[in-house]
Amino acid sequence: MAPAKTTSIVIETREDTFSEGTDYMAAKRTYRVGVIGAGSIAQECHFPGYKKHGKANLVAFADPAVARHGEIQDQFGNLNAYDDFRDMLDQENLDVVSVCTPNKFHAENVIGALEAGCHVLCEKPIATTLKEADQMIATAKRKRKKLMIGFTHRLFRGPQRCKQLLKEKAIGKPFMIRIRFAHGGPYPGWAKNCWFYNKELSAGGALLDMGIHAIDLALWLFGPMVSVSGHAATLIKKIEVDDNAVLIVEFKNGALGYIEVGWTSKPGFGGLEIYGTEGSLICDYERGLQQFGGEASAGKDGVSKHTTLEKNPAAGGWEIEIDHWMDVVAGKERLTMSGRAGRDALEVALAVYKSSESGRRVTLG
Ligand SMILES: NC(=O)c1ccc[n+]([C@@H]2O[C@H](COP(=O)([O-])OP(=O)(O)OC[C@H]3O[C@@H](n4cnc5c(N)ncnc54)[C@H](O)[C@@H]3O)[C@@H](O)[C@H]2O)c1
Repeated sequence: MAPAKTTSIVIETREDTFSEGTDYMAAKRTYRVGVIGAGSIAQECHFPGYKKHGKANLVAFADPAVARHGEIQDQFGNLNAYDDFRDMLDQENLDVVSVCTPNKFHAENVIGALEAGCHVLCEKPIATTLKEADQMIATAKRKRKKLMIGFTHRLFRGPQRCKQLLKEKAIGKPFMIRIRFAHGGPYPGWAKNCWFYNKELSAGGALLDMGIHAIDLALWLFGPMVSVSGHAATLIKKIEVDDNAVLIVEFKNGALGYIEVGWTSKPGFGGLEIYGTEGSLICDYERGLQQFGGEASAGKDGVSKHTTLEKNPAAGGWEIEIDHWMDVVAGKERLTMSGRAGRDALEVALAVYKSSESGRRVTLG
């Protein structure tokens, strides 16, 4: 098998320096890998990523949907299949586990895998409550194992470049970020069933699904937030969770942010915009990343100059996520999408639900 491509990701803000555990396996030749939850994200990102990685020995998966077992074995080879993740952890002596189950199960899956001595890559959102997130982070720390959250957008080329440009102060002092992520919804078409729309299993709708990525990007690019106000609503779909949400955030550095997410959108703008005192970065996932300069007065004499920096800002992501994770496991890359980062994003998302109910701005811890 060809050696895995290594990736180097842009760092660092306060939360990025947080690391749960030290890796003692870097010298090991291969890592025994298992996956919990064998649905769409596992099949699109985790299984293929481990299969092509020279240091990963993908041996097993657990999923109670027995129909999934044959589907996975047809696509990814003769892996050992389990109905219950606990049996897989007991019998497979794994080093690395991916958790790709519905949100409600993340905490028990992650804690189980950490207790079994594994490094864990958990899909977003980290969990459904802050209490669960705290337990997951504490377990990783106690077991001295790594816990990474799948904040894929950080691995897209566009946001990577934005992070670098902000570090270089390429647009002066950034004072505003706007992010919009929207599509037609995860089911039908993506997920294996309609669990995303079930409050008990998901704990939230578009805000917890797409919003969590947007919130994480905003935190990663602009630093901690001090308050949020927002509105999460079910506008179009006949479901019990929100299908659209809008939030306004205030950062500790004084900047403002505006985030809009939805599950009911026809194609439209998807990406982020960052405004600074010396220029702007418009990162349209479909059309490219552009850096704007020039003058914009209130009159008709505005002069805008722009350069296209990246034609395909959404390249990267799932394609490189497992390579990046395996580098984190081996100690070649720092753990940046940490459990702490997962908790920080969850805290903001849950505060938006609170704000939506009360109609008030919520101060963040
Ligand atoms: N990073 C991303 O961009 C991204 C994209 C999509 C989904 N996700 C996240 O991935 C997770 C899974 O989403 P999905 O889209 O793959 O859903 P899915 O419905 O396609 O797959 C979920 C799978 O989990 C299995 N499952 C359910 N309960 C289980 C349990 N207790 N133990 C083991 N397996 C169990 C189901 O049978 C199903 O096969 C969610 O948390 C979601 O938010 C992340």
